[in-house]
Amino acid sequence: MKFDIRRFRTVPSTMDLCRAYAEQGAGEGLVVLADEQTAGRGRAGRAWYSPPGRSLYLSILLRPNLQPRQIGWLTMIGALAVCEIAQETANAHLDDSRSCASTPPAPPPPSQAQGWAALQFKLKWPNDVLLNGKKVAGVLVESSLIGNRLDYAVLGIGLNVNTSFDDAPEEVRRRAISLREALGHEVDRNAVLKQLLAAFGARYAMLPASPLADYARRLDTLGRRVRLQVGDEIVEGDAVRVEDDGALVVMTDSGKRTVTFGEVMSL
Ligand code: BTN
Repeated sequence: MKFDIRRFRTVPSTMDLCRAYAEQGAGEGLVVLADEQTAGRGRAGRAWYSPPGRSLYLSILLRPNLQPRQIGWLTMIGALAVCEIAQETANAHLDDSRSCASTPPAPPPPSQAQGWAALQFKLKWPNDVLLNGKKVAGVLVESSLIGNRLDYAVLGIGLNVNTSFDDAPEEVRRRAISLREALGHEVDRNAVLKQLLAAFGARYAMLPASPLADYARRLDTLGRRVRLQVGDEIVEGDAVRVEDDGALVVMTDSGKRTVTFGEVMSL
């Protein structure tokens, strides 16, 4: 896929702008990239902390030849691409530190209390990229159907590259982390963007092969006891597998539950 990147200083949300381009007939591969969002959003109507000049906030316009039940694959490949390049960035940093004998690796920030070997990026169902249990990125897919045909999808990615959460709301501060905080130094946003688009493009080119197996391999949620917020209900049980459409299958005391929309809460 060829990417056409449109850069903006401040927007309410890259999702809305990308959707507006889509409605005007823009082709797939258009990327809306913002330095800051004033109304960045995540799943379930939550806000996405998007301070200026620090991280990556982007939305990619896609017009894939997929069935509506396959839309979940876009979330999977977006999350996989982010997870892979975040891991590469961390590994490259570690290699650099090791190969420079006179410069021992900078110690990880004490607040993270993690060793280098522990920098493991994993996925949390359905769309979170976690680093040692904290959220480093999120993926949001919004789609538009014409009848039963997928017209377009907007895939949004928020990746905490250099964000400092000192001024963030307490709830965000507790759960979020940036690459800079984990690695102990500033990370080149443009380099990360380039890697991210390349990784995403490669995964997108593999469609319509299902990304489920790769996704499930990276998913930290499977095999765990989970508590899910599903609408007004709490579902608790063992997360056993993900269906091809992205739904999570949970074995509860009263039987099997297949959850399409829900939020995994910490136990
Ligand atoms: C989530 O984890 O709930 C998804 C977060 C997605 C955030 C990104 S930032 C770029 C794009 N614009 C938005 O308003 N949201 C997405």
